[in-house]
Amino acid sequence: MVASKEKDFGTPESTLQGLVSLTIDGMPIQVAEGTSVMRAAAETGISIPKLCSTDSLNAFGSCRLCLVEIEGQQGMPASCSTPVGEGMAVRTQTERLAKVRRGVMELYISDHPLDCLTCSANGDCELQDMAGAVGLREVRYGFDGENHLDLEVDSSNPYFSFDPSKCIVCSRCVRACDEVQGTFALTIEGRGFDSKVSTGPGENFLDSECVSCGACVQVCPTATLMEKSVIEHGQPEHSVITTCAYCGVGCSFKAEMKGNQLVRMVPYRDGQANHGHSCVKGRFAFGYATHPDRVLKPLIRDKTSDVWREVEWDEAIAFTANRFETIQAEYGRKSIGGITSSRCTNEEVWVVQKLIRAGFKNNNVDTCARVCHSPTGYGLKQTLGTSAGTQHFDSVREADVIVVIGANLTEAHPVFASQMKRRLREGARLIVIDPRGIDLVRSPHVEARHHLQLLPGTNVAMINAFAHVVVTEGYVDEEYVVARCDPESFAEWREFVQRPENSPEAVAKVTGVDAQQIRAAARLYAGGPRSAIYYGLGVTEHSQGSTMVMGMANIAMATGNIGFMGVGVNPLRGQNNVQGSCDMGSFPHELPGYRPVTDDTVRGTFEAAWQVELDAEPGLRIPNMFDAAIAGEYRGMYIQGEDLAQSDPNTQHVEAALDSMDCVVVQDLFLNETCRFAHVFLPGTSFLEKDGTFTNAERRINRVRPVMPSQTGMAEWEVTQALANAMGYPMNYANAAEIMDEIAALTPTFSGVSFDHLDAVGSVQWPCNEAAPLGTPVMHIDQFVRGKGKFFPTEFVPTEERTTRRFPLILTTGRILSQYNVGAQTRRTPNSIWSPEDVLEVHPHDAELRGIVEGGLVAVSSRKGETTLHATLTDRVPPGVVYTTFHHPETGANIVTTEFSDWATNCPEYKVTAVQVLPASRRTEWQERVHGGKAQVVRI
Ligand code: SF4
Ligand code: SF4
Ligand code: SF4
Ligand code: FES
Repeated sequence: MVASKEKDFGTPESTLQGLVSLTIDGMPIQVAEGTSVMRAAAETGISIPKLCSTDSLNAFGSCRLCLVEIEGQQGMPASCSTPVGEGMAVRTQTERLAKVRRGVMELYISDHPLDCLTCSANGDCELQDMAGAVGLREVRYGFDGENHLDLEVDSSNPYFSFDPSKCIVCSRCVRACDEVQGTFALTIEGRGFDSKVSTGPGENFLDSECVSCGACVQVCPTATLMEKSVIEHGQPEHSVITTCAYCGVGCSFKAEMKGNQLVRMVPYRDGQANHGHSCVKGRFAFGYATHPDRVLKPLIRDKTSDVWREVEWDEAIAFTANRFETIQAEYGRKSIGGITSSRCTNEEVWVVQKLIRAGFKNNNVDTCARVCHSPTGYGLKQTLGTSAGTQHFDSVREADVIVVIGANLTEAHPVFASQMKRRLREGARLIVIDPRGIDLVRSPHVEARHHLQLLPGTNVAMINAFAHVVVTEGYVDEEYVVARCDPESFAEWREFVQRPENSPEAVAKVTGVDAQQIRAAARLYAGGPRSAIYYGLGVTEHSQGSTMVMGMANIAMATGNIGFMGVGVNPLRGQNNVQGSCDMGSFPHELPGYRPVTDDTVRGTFEAAWQVELDAEPGLRIPNMFDAAIAGEYRGMYIQGEDLAQSDPNTQHVEAALDSMDCVVVQDLFLNETCRFAHVFLPGTSFLEKDGTFTNAERRINRVRPVMPSQTGMAEWEVTQALANAMGYPMNYANAAEIMDEIAALTPTFSGVSFDHLDAVGSVQWPCNEAAPLGTPVMHIDQFVRGKGKFFPTEFVPTEERTTRRFPLILTTGRILSQYNVGAQTRRTPNSIWSPEDVLEVHPHDAELRGIVEGGLVAVSSRKGETTLHATLTDRVPPGVVYTTFHHPETGANIVTTEFSDWATNCPEYKVTAVQVLPASRRTEWQERVHGGKAQVVRI
C-alpha cells in the first residue's frame, strides 16, 4: 500500500469571487469564476486524464491528454487551460476523446523504458496511472526507432537523481522551480524531439543554481526526478503529519514511512505556513535523527577530566538530583538554574521552566532566544503590547512594498523567501537594508529598488532617517495615529525625529549610504500603500537591538502600516521554536505569557496551580549566570538542547564559566562542545520521536507528532519530570497533551489550545481563546494589544565596539542554507557537501591590501581572541566588512566576538566585531588543542 496522496485538482484554486454555472457530463455545477474546466470537473468528482498539470502550478497545456468537448465549440480544448464559462456544457468522456487520448499516451509510451515492475516509482507514477486511465492496451510504433532510452542518469545531487530516459518533457519541474521555488534553475533545452530538461550548459544538478528544495522532484509525474531514499527503501506505506524542526518558518510535512523506516518527507499541502513547499533541510536533511553519533544512554562522571560512564536512567536522575541538592545546600537556593531550548517543543520547555521555578525554587531560567530575538520581545511589547510579530506569512501576498532588514531569507527562511519572491515577481517593490549583497538584492526576476548597504551597527540611524522623511515630508497617517496611538509619545517622537541629526543627509555620514537613496527608499516605504517590514538577527543582535525594533514599530504606526493584510512588523525567527520557548515563560523576569514574576496576582495563579511558593525576584540571564559562575556563586546548570560553548559570544569567558561549575547537565542528541564541561549527559529525542507543538515565527502553533518510538526509551519531558520528582517537587503528567492542557489553563493567549483542537483545525496562531477560537492571523486589527500604540524616541548611540588601526575591519556573521545553527544536525547529513567549513568573505580590495588570496588561510583577531579560517574573495561584502557563518565548531567564530550586548535584553552584539584579518600559516593554539587543528570529522 502506497502512502495516501492528497487529491490533485489539476490547476490552482481560483481567487475570483463570482460564481459560474455549467454542466459537466450532464451534471449541473457552480464554481468560482476563473476555475479551469479540469478543476471544476475534479471538484465534482470527475477525473480528466492529465500529465502536464498539477494544482500547485499554473496550467501549461502541453501534454494534450486532458482534452474535452464543449458544446458549440469547435475542436477539443485542453481542460486545464480552459476557464469555465456561464452555461457551458462540457463532455469529458466520448469515443472521440478516448481515441485521441489513447493516441497521445501511445506516443509517450513508445519512448519510455518499460521497466515498470522494477521502477522505483512503480505504484506512484502518473504516467502508469494515465496509461491505465485512458485504456492503452498496445503501442503500435515499436521501440526500435529514435528514442531517449540511453540517456545518462545524473546522480550528482546527494538526495535525488535525474533519469532523463524516463522524462516526458511535461515541464512541471521547470515550472515548479520557477513558480514555487523562484530559483529558475531549470529550462527546457532544444525543440521537438530534441527537447529536454536542462540545468544549464554542461552542468549537472550539483553544480547548477539548484538549491535542492525538491519542488521539482515532488511534481515530477514519472520516476525521472526521484528521491534516492525511495530508490533505496521502496515506496512508503503510511504517513504522519508533523512539523519541521529546523527554522522558524515551521513547515508542515507528511513523514512517509515504511514500518519504522522514514522513507521521505513530503511538504504537506495543507500546511498553513508552507502550503506544500519546503527547503533542502526540511525535506532531505533528516538523517541525523538516526545517525550513529547519537548518544542513546545517559552518561555521568564525577569530574570533567574523567571518562564518561554509561548508566541507566534511574542512576543518572539520582546522580543529577543529588548534585543539585548538594550545591543548593552549600551555596543556597539560587546557586543553580538552567536554560530552555528553542529547538524543543513547547511542552518540553514548559516542564524545564517549571522544574526551575517550582523545583529549584528560583527564577534562574533563561533561553537561547536570549542570544537571538530577545530584543524583539522587548521592543514589540513596549510599542504594540505583545512580544510577537504582527502578521501571518500569507499577509505578504498583499504587500505593495516590502522592506527586508538584516535578514537573509533565501538562506535562513527559504520557504518564506519563495513566497515573498512570488509577490515580488507580481510587482511588489523591495527595499533591502543590509551590509551584504544578499541574494534578494538581485536574483532571477527579482531586483530590489533600493539596497541600502549600510555599515554594520548603524541600523538605528537609518530608521531614524526613514522616520525623519515620514514626518517632514507629510507621510504621517494622521487619522490612524489620532485614532490608535498615544498622542503624547507621538508628539515627543515627532519632535525627536525631525531634528537635523536624523535627516538622511546627516545619517548618510554615519551609515555610508547616499542621502538621496535613503530619502527615496523612505518615500517608497511611506507611500506603500501597503508596506511590510520583515527583519532578522541583523536587527536584534546589536547593542541597540531593542531600540531598532522600537524604531521599526514607530514608523509602521506613524504610516498606518499595522493591523491589516500586507503590512506589519515581522520578526523572522531563527530556530523552529524561538517564539514558543519565549511564550512558555523562559525568561528570568517573566512567567509564561510574558507576565512579570514580580506581579503578585500572576504569581498567585501559578502558586495555586503548582502548589508551591514561587520566588518573586527575577533570576539571572545567561550572561549573568556566566559571571556568577566565575564569581563562584552559580554552580549548577541544566542545559536543554543548546550548545553554549559554541553559540554564545566570547568563548573563553563561556568556557571559564562552564569550567567553574560543579554540575553541568546537557540534554541533547549528540555530545556537543558544551559537553567538554558537563558532568551529566541526558540523551534527548529528535523531532521524529517527539509528541508536542512548535510555535513558528508567525505565532502558529503546529503539532509535532511522533513518527517513530523514542530511541532513548524516554520522552524528554519525562526525563525532566523524573528529575523534578527526584528533587522533591511532584510532577505527574501522563502525556504531552496534559502538559498543553496546563499551558492553556495558565496562559490566557493559549486558553483555546489543545491537541484535540489542533488535530481538528490543523494549526492556530495565538492568541487562541474564546474570543478567537481559530486563532489570530493578523494582530492589532482594531486597536493595539496595549491599547494605544506607544512611540519611543530612538536616539542612535554608536556601539562601543569601534574599528581602530589595530582592528580596522568589521566582522559580521550569518547563516547558510545548507547548515543550521551550530550544525550539530546538518553536519551529520549529506548537506555538508555544500558547506564543509565556515569561510570568511573578504572584499577583494581588503584582500589585496593584506595579501590574502582565494582559499588562503587567514587569522581573524579581535581584542577578545583569534581564530583562523579560509578566505573567499567576494564583493557581496563592502570594503571594510568581513563576514562568516558559525556552523562548524572548529571555526570558533565566537572566540572573537565580544561581551557587548543589547542595552535592554543583553542579546549579544554578534553582528559587529572590530577585527584584523591577515594571512596565516597555521591554526591557533585553541583550534589545535580542541579540534586537533582540523575540521571536525563527522561520520555521514
Ligand atoms: S523531469 Fe519529470 S517533471 Fe520534469 S519534464 Fe521530465 S517528466 Fe516532467
Ligand atoms: S530542487 Fe528546487 S531549486 Fe533545484 S531544480 Fe528542483 S525546484 Fe529548482
Ligand atoms: S524553510 Fe525552515 S521550516 Fe521549512 S523546511 Fe526549510 S528549514 Fe524546515
Ligand atoms: S494536463 Fe492539460 S494539456 Fe496537459
